[in-house]
Amino acid sequence: MPEPTISEEVQQFYSENPYPHYGTAAKTKAASSYMKYCEKPGKYLEAGCGTGHVVTGSAVMMPHLEFYGIDFSDASLAIAQKVAAANKVDVQFQRANLMEPLPFDFEFDYISCLGVLHHLEVPDQGLKNLANQLAIGGYIFIHVYGEEYHRRRFQINEMLDLLSEKGEDHEERYRLFKALVRHERKLKRGSLLRQLARLSLRDVILGIRSRVKGRNFEDGETLQAWNGEWDDPKPTERWLDQFAHPQERTYNHTEMNKFLSGAGLELVESFALGRQDSRLVPPEWAGLYSELDLGRQSRMMELLNPRGTSPFVAARKLPVT
Ligand SMILES: C[S@@+](CC[C@H](N)C(=O)[O-])C[C@H]1O[C@@H](n2cnc3c(N)ncnc32)[C@H](O)[C@@H]1O
Repeated sequence: MPEPTISEEVQQFYSENPYPHYGTAAKTKAASSYMKYCEKPGKYLEAGCGTGHVVTGSAVMMPHLEFYGIDFSDASLAIAQKVAAANKVDVQFQRANLMEPLPFDFEFDYISCLGVLHHLEVPDQGLKNLANQLAIGGYIFIHVYGEEYHRRRFQINEMLDLLSEKGEDHEERYRLFKALVRHERKLKRGSLLRQLARLSLRDVILGIRSRVKGRNFEDGETLQAWNGEWDDPKPTERWLDQFAHPQERTYNHTEMNKFLSGAGLELVESFALGRQDSRLVPPEWAGLYSELDLGRQSRMMELLNPRGTSPFVAARKLPVT
């Protein structure tokens, strides 16, 4: 038997663990960021629609559009059909591999691809395939893992890879993971006690103030935060997606700029990590900052924002020159 390709491994993974696969409630949060670009009637494709919660949410919110969803996991598509039906929306689901030219003889006005491209065998080819199916001037909405935000998770996965063969035994990998979480909690508790013993009254007041402020922080990560509680007795779909995935990579905004331009796409807006926030720019930099193009401004925002999350952008297809 030949070794499976990366695409085959990913397909197998999502056939066994359809994602996100919770309930039939439609998800509307991601699309609420970009629906302002979708006012004109047209065709809308959710590429890598998974279990269909996001495309169903979009169909609920934008009834003037015609919805399509593709994925290469039949198990996910079967759930997606049920989620759309439960919400009484019409989405035409079809099996397709994003690594190949898409099976449509028409173009889309809008494409959304959230949490998918970073899992492809060759993401640049996948994005080009999507761009080829987008009308000139059409919009594409993309979310990929952020480099800094996911750094620790990737380190944890590397440690688990050193101890166990990925994909062999998910329950054993989960046990190893929980042992690390328990141990790190214990170490943190120990160092917290030592820190508390050294605190002055001023430290306590400042600490409480920053904690209260921290609660108001909207982290912009609309899709998933990987560092959850993970208290479930068995690995959940979400844990598997984050800690047992056969293929994933991250992007910073410099890489995102190259990714988009390589597929003939122009950045229109950054919603999360690269979101414009003029308060972060030192006043003395404002003039120079305003002269940067949007891609470089997004990268600057990423570097200025220590609590950055992941690239989540709207882009538009440029006319061929
Ligand atoms: C993390 S899930 C995201 C699902 C959905 N976009 C969401 O945000 O809830 C990634 C999805 O991409 C699909 N996928 C990954 N590689 C693919 C490929 N080459 N072709 C088609 N679908 C793919 C998987 O089957 C899976 O359903």
